[in-house]
Parts: sequence; C-alpha cells; structure tokens
Amino acid sequence: MKVTICAAILLAICAAGFLPLATPAAVPAGPITWVIPFAANLPPYEAGTAAVGDTVTYTWSRFHGVVLSSSPDCTARTLFQQIPGGADSASGAANVTFTAPGTFYVICPVGTHCAQGQIQKWTVSPAA
Ligand SMILES: *[C@@H]1O[C@H](CO)[C@@H](O)[C@H](O)[C@H]1NC(C)=O
Repeated sequence: MKVTICAAILLAICAAGFLPLATPAAVPAGPITWVIPFAANLPPYEAGTAAVGDTVTYTWSRFHGVVLSSSPDCTARTLFQQIPGGADSASGAANVTFTAPGTFYVICPVGTHCAQGQIQKWTVSPAA
C-alpha cells in the first residue's frame, strides 16, 4: 500500500515536471499599431491581459512614444517608466515587458495623445 502511494506521488511529481506548463501569453498578443484612436476614428484600445514576463511590441509610424505607468492619469509624468525603444520618435518600436503583477497603462507621452485615447490598460497576473 505504502509503495503504491509513493509510486503514485512520484508519478504525479514526474508528470507535473514533464507536462508543458501553460505558457502565459499577452492578449492582445501584438504587435500593436500605436496611433491616436480618436484622431484615426478608431475605438479606444481594448484592455489587455498578460502575465509577468510577457512582452508586447508597439510599433508606430508617426511621432509617438511608449511609456508604462501604474496610473491612467495622462499627466502623471513622474510615474512614467521609460521603455527601451519607447522614446518619442518619428517612427519606432518598443517592447513592453511586464515585470510585476498589477494594473498598468501603456501611454504615449507625446503632447495630448494619451488624452485622445493613446493609452492601453493591462491587467498583469503573476508569472504562471
Ligand atoms: C523587440 O523584440 C524583438 C524580438 O525579440 C527584437 O527583434 C527587437 O529588436 C526588440 N526591439 C526593441 C526596440 O527592443
């Protein structure tokens, strides 16, 4: 009996080790075309979900940029975290990698772009 239980536990541990873990993946997966929705007559950006470690790419072809914030306040510049590749530029791409669980906002820091809808909310869960 004890041997059977031990074997079953061992099997469970081994199976857990070999089964592919659910790969966390951001939704939407991107790349996300980064524009001013209101100016382009588009709906607001849909809120996304991701897990810690996920990366979402934003690309743009007009003058935009990408920062990450813990606040949806477009003017809370002290909260804006710089993102590699996210500096304001005429065209570009930036990879936003979520490093902590919580609610975050990808924001365009250029002019009033954020106030005109260039902001996307992300709900980030702990790493799977
Ligand atoms: C974003 O990630 C892709 C894929 O890893 C890479 O090719 C690209 O250079 C990265 N871009 C920036 C701006 O870091």
